[in-house]
Amino acid sequence: MTRPDVAAASGTVSGLRYRARPVTALRGALTVPGDKSISHRALMLAGIAEGSTRINGFLESEDCLATLHAMRALGVAIDRPQPQVVDVQGAGMHGLKGSPAPLDMVNAGTAMRLFAGLLAAQRFDSVLTGDASLMERPMERVATPLRAMGAVIETHSGRPPLRIRGGQRLHPVDYELPVASAQLKSAILLAALYAEGVTAVTEPAVTRDHSERMLRAFGADIAIQGRRVRLQGPAVLRGCRVEVPGDFSSAAFFIVAASLAAEGLLTIRNVGVNPTRTGLVEILRRMGAEIRLVNERSGGAEPVADLEIERRELRGIVVPHALVPLAIDEFPALFIAAACASGETLVTGAEELRVKESDRIAVMAEGLNTLGIHAEVLADGLRIRGGKMGGGRIDSHGDHRIAMAFAIASARASGALEIVDVANVATSFPGFVEIARQIGFDIESFVSS
Ligand code: S3P
Repeated sequence: MTRPDVAAASGTVSGLRYRARPVTALRGALTVPGDKSISHRALMLAGIAEGSTRINGFLESEDCLATLHAMRALGVAIDRPQPQVVDVQGAGMHGLKGSPAPLDMVNAGTAMRLFAGLLAAQRFDSVLTGDASLMERPMERVATPLRAMGAVIETHSGRPPLRIRGGQRLHPVDYELPVASAQLKSAILLAALYAEGVTAVTEPAVTRDHSERMLRAFGADIAIQGRRVRLQGPAVLRGCRVEVPGDFSSAAFFIVAASLAAEGLLTIRNVGVNPTRTGLVEILRRMGAEIRLVNERSGGAEPVADLEIERRELRGIVVPHALVPLAIDEFPALFIAAACASGETLVTGAEELRVKESDRIAVMAEGLNTLGIHAEVLADGLRIRGGKMGGGRIDSHGDHRIAMAFAIASARASGALEIVDVANVATSFPGFVEIARQIGFDIESFVSS
């Protein structure tokens, strides 16, 4: 069934493909581009702050540029004086202006959900739309708590576009999230900046805390106690300097690749190692990986380190549920590690993977089966039996992390991989192929007719 608004949305199946030939050894050092979650948040908070903010290390990916363009459409002055540096002249808490045109979030679920919270509190109406993949993603989960704060938001049968009616007086809530989602927590906190009194959000499990750290750096009165966050509104944010570390979720592909095929030490420099993001390190260590965090330092509000990885033979494990939200974007890469491990790996409690940029449980199982790996689909995860991976043609279903996961599988696959529909890698990791080639991968991208 094709919804007319989805058919009209930006983004179709791209003709871009990867060809990844088998390699045996990876070596060297690399850096990955800036963190996607932090880049989105920095633009939004800077845009409503008083005064100016310089963002260093900004991720120039399609997702983050969608947020940048939307902030400009909302009247915020943004300069890009040099690559990865963004200067934002804050419009102040009440200085945003309505956009006559819908705001296009393209492929970015984070942008759509965070903007829902921010825009619910403004005086003007807004419409948020996106590409074909984003138009299929669940949005009632963000609309429901915002409505509890007095927001007026319509979804289309639970999905985008989001139609947000401005001019509402928001009030604080004490909200228990039914799903562990940093996007939902952040949307509520952004709306809470405009509500008079203390808003509290309790999560079922700890999720990434970038919003909390950054809100504090911009001067918000915020308190964190385990799974509960409280924010005092109304707030006045003050512009500051934001250092964006390398994205752990981009580094993840090379952490797995190096664990499978490093010759000597593979080093990844300047990576964000916020403990709410590094669940993959803990999971891989339990599988026998050798991953060291060195030069640990603080990069503004976030911890940063260099990672050193050596090759090890991995063994299958049962992944503890508490680690799932801390590794939520890393499962495509982890499933490749599991396919190369001895024995069985069991992931459950990960039903959120079904509503990411693709159904990552079904799509990863399909791809692994194509390569001769036994992967059994469960309602909330996968059971994978490690084995020998062959080559073949993989459909990424337009999901950037699926495309990159199978690209790095070429560190162990015995035959060439052709990965279809990979253009969306640009949503999170511009330059992925070049960086992969730098450490020894034989990956090329090409357009098929
Ligand atoms: C993100 C949170 C996660 C993650 C997404 C980025 C964020 O989503 O999958 O890529 O920046 O808050 P959920 O919080 O919905 O799990």
